[in-house]
Amino acid sequence: MAKEQRIALVTGANKGIGFEVARQLARKGFHVFLGARNEEAGKAAAQKLNREAEEERSSENTRGGAVTALKIDISKPESIRRAAEEFSRTSDRLDSLVNNAGILLDNDKEILTSTPEVFETTLRTNTLGALLVSQVFVAFLKKSDTPRIVNVSSGGGQLSDGADGWAPAYCISKTALNGVTVQLAAALPEFAVNSVCPGWVRTDMGGSNATRSVAEGASGIAWLAADAPQTETGKFWRDRKVIPW
Ligand SMILES: NC(=O)c1ccc[n+]([C@@H]2O[C@H](COP(=O)([O-])OP(=O)(O)OC[C@H]3O[C@@H](n4cnc5c(N)ncnc54)[C@H](OP(=O)(O)O)[C@@H]3O)[C@@H](O)[C@H]2O)c1
Repeated sequence: MAKEQRIALVTGANKGIGFEVARQLARKGFHVFLGARNEEAGKAAAQKLNREAEEERSSENTRGGAVTALKIDISKPESIRRAAEEFSRTSDRLDSLVNNAGILLDNDKEILTSTPEVFETTLRTNTLGALLVSQVFVAFLKKSDTPRIVNVSSGGGQLSDGADGWAPAYCISKTALNGVTVQLAAALPEFAVNSVCPGWVRTDMGGSNATRSVAEGASGIAWLAADAPQTETGKFWRDRKVIPW
């Protein structure tokens, strides 16, 4: 892998916001590892982006990077370990890790009736998953001159304005993910580690009434992964601006 080409891993990138972040980072010239727990879905998504880049290259002079599918289920430590092994066959360096994969199981549930199963599953993916992927991939990130971790959080995890009762397990998992962000930022002073809210985005999770396109939602995430000043760390962002925790 040429030293000058930056390398990114985006989890949960077979669809939705993650897919679009992978597309935007590839357009910025990154070699993108497109993480997906479903191998076939990951390969199909990577193929689609590589085909698109090929078409763009033939019509105009662009510098799109390659996209490589990587099987990774962030709720399973063994799958994360195997993904790192697979990754290491292509590269010993990672520049930007985007912890995007997430689940929303308790859309219409209330805190008083929320079940332990929903809480455990949600926190295992949205909070612990992002931490475990960071722990395992940190060795590759340490080889980068500009290591970045971007945790895709949500305004639903903000404590500054209280809660409105919507999706308590999901919101708490994102509050805790923001905790992971500040802890990692403290532990890794050479890194830029940030949380970001994409806004309300039209995906399977966000639904068709959401106010933003995937391109709008992904743009602030790709900016943090690629272009934000390296000195910005331990913060929560939306639309390239810092927002309260
Ligand atoms: N959409 C919004 O309005 C909104 C707002 C704020 C924050 N966010 C956050 O943005 C991120 C992306 O959301 P989205 O709207 O794009 O959702 P989405 O369309 O439902 O996509 C979620 C992605 O995460 C993957 N995923 C789920 N569990 C996984 C696991 N254990 N291992 C690996 N991948 C896993 C899914 O894979 P499968 O296809 O295999 O299920 C899918 O690729 C999430 O962290 C979400 O919380 C979204």
